[in-house]
Amino acid sequence: MAVFHLKLAFLIMMITMICHTIVVFRGTIWIVRNEMSDSPNLQCTTLREKFISMKASIIKSITKGSAVTEDLQELMSCPYESNSTQREHRRAQLQFCCNATGNLFLTRKNTHQRQMIQYETSRKKKRVDDSLFKMLPKSTPWRKKSGFQRCAVVGNSGILRNSCCGAEIDSADIVIRLNLAPINNSTDVGVKTSLVTVNPSQILVNYPNLEKHPKPLAERVSAYGDAPIAVSAFTYPFCTGISFTVHRVLQKLRPEQKVVFFNPEYLRELFRYWKRQGLKELRLTTGLMLASVAMELCDDVHLYGFWPFSKDLFLRPVTHHYYDDIGPSRRMHVMPKEFLKLLKMHSLGSIHLHLTQCR
Ligand SMILES: *[C@@H]1O[C@H](CO)[C@@H](O)[C@H](O)[C@H]1NC(C)=O
Ligand SMILES: *[C@@H]1O[C@H](CO)[C@@H](O)[C@H](O)[C@H]1NC(C)=O
Ligand SMILES: *[C@@H]1O[C@H](CO)[C@@H](O)[C@H](O)[C@H]1NC(C)=O
Ligand SMILES: *[C@@H]1O[C@H](CO)[C@@H](O)[C@H](O)[C@H]1NC(C)=O
Repeated sequence: MAVFHLKLAFLIMMITMICHTIVVFRGTIWIVRNEMSDSPNLQCTTLREKFISMKASIIKSITKGSAVTEDLQELMSCPYESNSTQREHRRAQLQFCCNATGNLFLTRKNTHQRQMIQYETSRKKKRVDDSLFKMLPKSTPWRKKSGFQRCAVVGNSGILRNSCCGAEIDSADIVIRLNLAPINNSTDVGVKTSLVTVNPSQILVNYPNLEKHPKPLAERVSAYGDAPIAVSAFTYPFCTGISFTVHRVLQKLRPEQKVVFFNPEYLRELFRYWKRQGLKELRLTTGLMLASVAMELCDDVHLYGFWPFSKDLFLRPVTHHYYDDIGPSRRMHVMPKEFLKLLKMHSLGSIHLHLTQCR
């Protein structure tokens, strides 16, 4: 009888242990599974993969409060993961196709007297006569043999308003600004400037009669200190005369601040490069152009104010620019497609896109 009781107790104990083991084991699996699906890392990896393979047609619904909106909000709260393989690959491609290092601007090194320069967008050519040759710098300004570590390219979108990104922007080694964007709000956009671009049509509209009244432009560009001013003098024939005037008047008033001309050959090759990468548009935006320059010259590229929509990521209305609401010339540029490209590169870890407030 005692033996039977002992056997029974043993049996009950065994069953209890097995049940317990099963419960614990299942619990563990449940915890592991739960952690796998809810862990922020895995969630972020999934989101990145989603954006890497996203189709162009979906991008338009980003500001329609759709599932993509939520995905992008979440992606932007994920830590950015840089991938040096991706970065180096892109850098090598850009150097090979376009070579910003040697060819970004027309210089006396890459251009010789009496050479014919072909315009970016047509077969028209312009001869490098003595006066043009004299306008060219001896070599590329702000070039460093070893490249730059951290670079910021500041687009002009209204999402920069109240972004508090100024300090972060200013902490970059190189800060590139577009189309004479004002820098009178250091909290949001910073002040540091290493290069600023000017659009010839912007000069024609805002500074008529520049030859006679050059002071306002000189004052405007003095905000950037001695940062070189880059002009697309050879994109269309109408750009050339006005660009030369900008060079002439600023050389007199601000000799320490150089006006340089983008090399149309560089721009043409870059256009072809992105076309091969699937961006079949009439023209590249200045933003993508300078982001490409930065990807070749810098290790770490940060983009601020790149956002081609009229509502922000949280569906609040945003102005076209952070400083005004004039625009857009979106018929020329298919900006959302470019934006998707940037988003994919962000997800791959080759460029850091900032779409929300900086801390
Ligand atoms: C970085 O990119 C390469 C090439 O696409 C890929 O093989 C590698 O897994 C990526 N590394 C990380 C840490 O994601
Ligand atoms: C880029 O241009 C520079 C200067 O013209 C030249 O020395 C260099 O070899 C070029 N690099 C490539 C990859 O073509
Ligand atoms: C500029 O600064 C003011 C506060 O001084 C702020 O309200 C405004 O949104 C800022 N941003 C821009 C881009 O003007
Ligand atoms: C900032 O600069 C822009 C353009 O130069 C000007 O229109 C605007 O009034 C300025 N804003 C402030 C707050 O100074």
